[in-house]
Amino acid sequence: MTHMSHSALATRSRHHPAFLGLTAAIGLSLAFAAAPARADSLASEPVGILPGGTVVQQYTMTNANGVIVRFLSLGGCITEIDTPDRNGNFADIVLGYHDLAGYDSNGTYFGAIVGRYANRIAKGTFTLDGETYHLPINNGVNSLHGGTVGFNTQIWRVTPKPVSDGVAASLTYTSPDGQDGYPGSLNVTVTYTLTDSNALRIDYEATTDKPTVVNLTNHSYFNLRGNGSGSALDELVQINADFYTPTDATQIPTGAIEPVAGTPMDFRKLTPIDARIRAPFQQLILAQGYDHNWVLNKPRPNALTYAAKAYDPETGRILLVFTTEPGVQLYTSNFLNGSLIGSSNTVYRQGEGFTFETQHFPDSPNHPNFPTTELKPGQTFHSVTIFRFSTDG
Ligand code: BGC
Repeated sequence: MTHMSHSALATRSRHHPAFLGLTAAIGLSLAFAAAPARADSLASEPVGILPGGTVVQQYTMTNANGVIVRFLSLGGCITEIDTPDRNGNFADIVLGYHDLAGYDSNGTYFGAIVGRYANRIAKGTFTLDGETYHLPINNGVNSLHGGTVGFNTQIWRVTPKPVSDGVAASLTYTSPDGQDGYPGSLNVTVTYTLTDSNALRIDYEATTDKPTVVNLTNHSYFNLRGNGSGSALDELVQINADFYTPTDATQIPTGAIEPVAGTPMDFRKLTPIDARIRAPFQQLILAQGYDHNWVLNKPRPNALTYAAKAYDPETGRILLVFTTEPGVQLYTSNFLNGSLIGSSNTVYRQGEGFTFETQHFPDSPNHPNFPTTELKPGQTFHSVTIFRFSTDG
């Protein structure tokens, strides 16, 4: 059963620091208080006001086992995921900002819905049906994660969705024709479902009124030992991929599809992330660590299949990733440099967490040999990614 409990929050919120701080606008601390223990609930509360006057809501999904997923109306950003370790002790396993201002600019894309085109488009240029489009350049010479407007800093409309297993909410946003240079008005619905088997299922749907390109992902940074516990690079990762897409020096795929065999990109066996991260391998040098797209092994395109696993031997936490997408980007937070204070109230450094960005391949509009990212009027884009949380206990 799913329900919203506005009244309980309203009572609590009157004396709540976040509520009192609403007039103080941006910069207040997010209130990450533990939600009351209750099976399958969706609660919401305001957490601050953006400089333009928009109130940002925070939503708390709780399942029957006490697993919690919190997210914002701002960018759909997942701010917190609390899961048990092998002894039943809960910890937050995703990185986040300690204040709303961080999510408002979100240069790290912590927890965000990324679009209209996740990852890079070379020199911010692509051609579709004979017309050339130009996107904002925001990452060296390239366009990254949609450009300067980006879905990650938009306000999404959130509605509870009744489901038979767990708790769910749908987030909708319409990206206007021409936003960030992309053609077509794009209607996007992202549904977060927290099941009672401790899985976070993310459904992405989009329709357009003109031919366009679409690539949507979630940009959560995981640290299975717990947010703020330091480097996650000794945690183990497996990726169900025989091939990856090497890049040039600006992190744009060369177009080659290379075997992982015999390289530090081979994660077919569960391997500590840091086992080979300092190998003198050109791809790792270019990206300052892992920041690459793996070509997932699939029996057929769009099949919902096992993509990746992460495991922390210390806490026993396991993360399994399943997706219909053809690729996954493992990014080992190479560009976190100790300059921001996280939701853990500690400073984040390189290797603090890792992402599994399920996606179409970077720069696909410029690589006809990659699976297409084109969406035409009358078609519905639908992709699914599941993050399943368990332990070895
Ligand atoms: C990119 C990284 C980038 C990070 C944060 C990842 O998806 O591949 O290169 O630094 O997002 O922006």
